[in-house]
Amino acid sequence: MTRFNEIQNDLIASPKVWLVTGVAGFIGSNLLETLLKLGQKVIGLDNFATGHQHNLDEVQGLVSHSQWDNFTFIEGDIRDYPTCEKAVGGVDYVLHQAALGSVPRSIADPITSNAANITGFLNMLQAAKEAKVKSFTYAASSSTYGDHPALPKVEENIGNPLSPYAVTKFVNELYAGVFARTYGFKTIGLRYFNVFGKRQDPNGAYAAVIPKWTAAMIQGEEVFINGDGETSRDFCFIENTVQMNILAATANDDAKDQVYNVAVGDRTTLNDLYGAIASALNENDIAVSGEPNYREFRAGDVRHSQADISKAQNLLGYEPQYRILDGIAKAMPWYKEFLS
Ligand SMILES: NC(=O)c1ccc[n+]([C@@H]2O[C@H](COP(=O)([O-])OP(=O)(O)OC[C@H]3O[C@@H](n4cnc5c(N)ncnc54)[C@H](O)[C@@H]3O)[C@@H](O)[C@H]2O)c1
Repeated sequence: MTRFNEIQNDLIASPKVWLVTGVAGFIGSNLLETLLKLGQKVIGLDNFATGHQHNLDEVQGLVSHSQWDNFTFIEGDIRDYPTCEKAVGGVDYVLHQAALGSVPRSIADPITSNAANITGFLNMLQAAKEAKVKSFTYAASSSTYGDHPALPKVEENIGNPLSPYAVTKFVNELYAGVFARTYGFKTIGLRYFNVFGKRQDPNGAYAAVIPKWTAAMIQGEEVFINGDGETSRDFCFIENTVQMNILAATANDDAKDQVYNVAVGDRTTLNDLYGAIASALNENDIAVSGEPNYREFRAGDVRHSQADISKAQNLLGYEPQYRILDGIAKAMPWYKEFLS
């Protein structure tokens, strides 16, 4: 039995109270779905800045009535400290996902990204420490590797941040370290590498590449590749990310006060990604014709990204269950239905 299976059995036998911030977003709503299916009590906090009520409605439709009754939603903003205090009351495990994602968004409006991602983060960290929660796991980012050229990315070797967003996520790690050293409050940061899957928003100027291209292909619109298409990423299916959050939340003390890469350890170019999405849509009876359009490289983007996941494997028992093509095959039927 894997460590993840063991933990799931323990949680079913002895349910806990979880706080998921950013619960109406992509990753948050997937965490909510898994936790409710495991019979956990979940408090969710979101201000709908980029999340959607329809994500919560979809989860409601996927769980039983009694599981849904275990969910309490607080509509509120992590920039407001009393809201954070209220949210952490009686909570065992915090999974802090709320933030403004997207490198280009942060370049266009660094002040708003800073407020949500740094002030909001500090509010949550402080409130969780004061409430003496059992664990605090937060969404960090592979953007923290910045301009460090080494591949694969190993947790201790980081470069200079290349965007305001990357600064905010690095500052989260700095605060987390200070809270461990100053107050003995040890957290875990999960450096996500391009997570994808159902409920990742395909709409809006700041949509991530997989949902953006998928929507364009389904709707017969043009697909744009920034740069020459040889930019590469370690795309990580959402189920792997959910696994890491649950492993991190329930980890022993000696695995805490750490950051971990969350990815697969693979590297896929944008050109190959285009082909993979097009052929998965063809499998779903959506004919994709034409070629992508190439345009300028995008400011703030790192050229290549690939994770070394051995730290998560060794210290947390992480075993990613899905590689990119498995994840794309699972995600496409959802986009087909969502966008039709
Ligand atoms: N998706 C990825 O590939 C990826 C990669 C690296 C890091 N991350 C991080 O993972 C986390 C979740 O990302 P996601 O992809 O699910 O994005 P998302 O935009 O779908 O979810 C973020 C959620 O946080 C909420 N939120 C934003 N500001 C808030 C505020 N001030 N108060 C309360 N709620 C607020 C939004 O409404 C949204 O529901 C974020 O911290 C993001 O930076 C994501």
